[in-house]
Amino acid sequence: YLKFPCLPEGTRHADGSLALNRFSSTITSGHDFPGAKAMLYAAGVPNNEVMSKSPHVGIASVWWEGNPCNMHLMGLAKTVKKAVVEKDMLGWQYNTIGVSDAISMGSEGMRFSLQTREIIADSVESVTCAQYHDACIAIPGCDKNMPGVVMGMARHNRPSLMIYGGSIQVGYSDLLRKPVNISSCFEAAGSYAYNTLRQPDDGGDTSKTKDEIMDDLERHACPGAGACGGMFTANTMATAIESMGLSLPGSSSTPAESPTKMRECVKAADAIRVCLEKNIKPRDLLTKRSFENALVMTMALGGSTNGVLHFLAMARTAGVELTLDDFQRVSNKIPFIANLSPSGKYYMADLYEIGGVPSVQKLLIAAGLLDGDIPTVTGKTLAQNVASWPSLPQDQAIIRPLDNPIKSTGHLQILRGNLAPGGAVAKITGKEGTRFTGRARVFDKEVQLGGALNRGEIPRGENLVLVVRYEGPKGGPGMPEQLKASAALMGAGLTNVALITDGRYSGASHGFIVGHIVPEAAAGGPIAVVRDGDVITIDAENNTISMDVTDEEIARRLGEWRAPVPHVTRGVLAKYARLVGDASHGAMTDLF
Ligand code: FES
Ligand code: MG
Repeated sequence: YLKFPCLPEGTRHADGSLALNRFSSTITSGHDFPGAKAMLYAAGVPNNEVMSKSPHVGIASVWWEGNPCNMHLMGLAKTVKKAVVEKDMLGWQYNTIGVSDAISMGSEGMRFSLQTREIIADSVESVTCAQYHDACIAIPGCDKNMPGVVMGMARHNRPSLMIYGGSIQVGYSDLLRKPVNISSCFEAAGSYAYNTLRQPDDGGDTSKTKDEIMDDLERHACPGAGACGGMFTANTMATAIESMGLSLPGSSSTPAESPTKMRECVKAADAIRVCLEKNIKPRDLLTKRSFENALVMTMALGGSTNGVLHFLAMARTAGVELTLDDFQRVSNKIPFIANLSPSGKYYMADLYEIGGVPSVQKLLIAAGLLDGDIPTVTGKTLAQNVASWPSLPQDQAIIRPLDNPIKSTGHLQILRGNLAPGGAVAKITGKEGTRFTGRARVFDKEVQLGGALNRGEIPRGENLVLVVRYEGPKGGPGMPEQLKASAALMGAGLTNVALITDGRYSGASHGFIVGHIVPEAAAGGPIAVVRDGDVITIDAENNTISMDVTDEEIARRLGEWRAPVPHVTRGVLAKYARLVGDASHGAMTDLF
């Protein structure tokens, strides 16, 4: 949709070399834009030779200091810039905003999280286009960063690649005498509230109070830089994007603080040059086939429900037809094989030790489940990229053999029914069963449920479906990510409870959970008229979510329902609420 002036593909400089500065030449050749050239000299272009020939590579890091997921990205970006310059290109670092999901979790700040995806995409698109960059290397870290940069790339569609910031190492709690991570903190909140947070009964010290244990946990859960190490949203997106060919092999499993991550930054310069020379553009890589790979990887590894939202948005940005039904189709055929947190035991740092994501890709390609023939940013196919990678060892407990999976089909299920006529997304690993019936207990906004949990008010015993509504893209506004409830329920050991919402869940959530209910309550969806005591059935075998209320009664209740007055009327969330589409279409802001 952008028609930018640029040199035709295959144009050569006077000395016969291929012109890689197809876009930047608009401002750097001749003297039509002397002001632009004057400013570029000031910014570091050394001479006229470089000015007239070198491609401009934008290096977009989602750096900021206050979050382990992002705090190291400036360092990676500097390494990339150095390597880009050494390969006779101009590297221009810039930054986009990003927020930390874990820091804003459970608070009003969380309403701002999803919409940062759009701001990140807007930033990458804006800088690339406004500054006539010829290529783009993006370095994201926390959850929304990855889909954000890819959407930006799909919009400007100039040669691009992504370097995932990498995930964090696992921490260790001396008082709990076990490895811990960020979700240990969230889950401990549940046992803290229900007074079951204790040191292990293993013959060691058991004298510490719940506050001392909590304090120890908070101090040790995050031992350095890197995104959350489980198969949460950041790693879901990074593994999928690597399986789509947009990042270098190994990018998603290489830990944030490792020399290998630094080497990847150097290799990125070679790869972006290949992309420029071969004119490999994001939309050449973002195809129905590569999205299929993204979904396969997500199902095999047990990825986050947020992936559904982000893949839909990435696909629509790239003009690829992808619908909720594609997720169900892939889920039906792909076994869930990864014993990775949040539902399993291991972390990305562990998977790295046994070969990493390329070794998993190799397994899936050999089984015909992953398409190894898709092109990638290396100029080679995915299968060629991973050919030299080791196969997964036999004696490991992280990735199960395909013929002995944890679950024979995927963990993400698309549900529809009188509660979600426009679709809903369930995460069902099978551990908690595949069917659940219970009486509704309704909460307008997550904070109400949070209060009930903190007060220990959710009883054990009778099956309950906790309904959290007015938390959708428009209603939140911002579709804030929920984790507190699922983590607290897990921590408190409440197995008689399922959670449903028109909002979404943190990738760290597990349990019997259904999110992304469409239409959302604020848009007059049936979830707005559920009442305490209605019986709700979630059936992941027949893919339904329904309440035992007749169509006539739902219509009658909806006739009485009045849309709430929006409580945010100015600022970024008000703009977002006005523009955003529904979750079944990716909750995008530029699809009109
Ligand atoms: Fe950033 Fe989890 S909070 S990846
Ligand atoms: Mg998240």
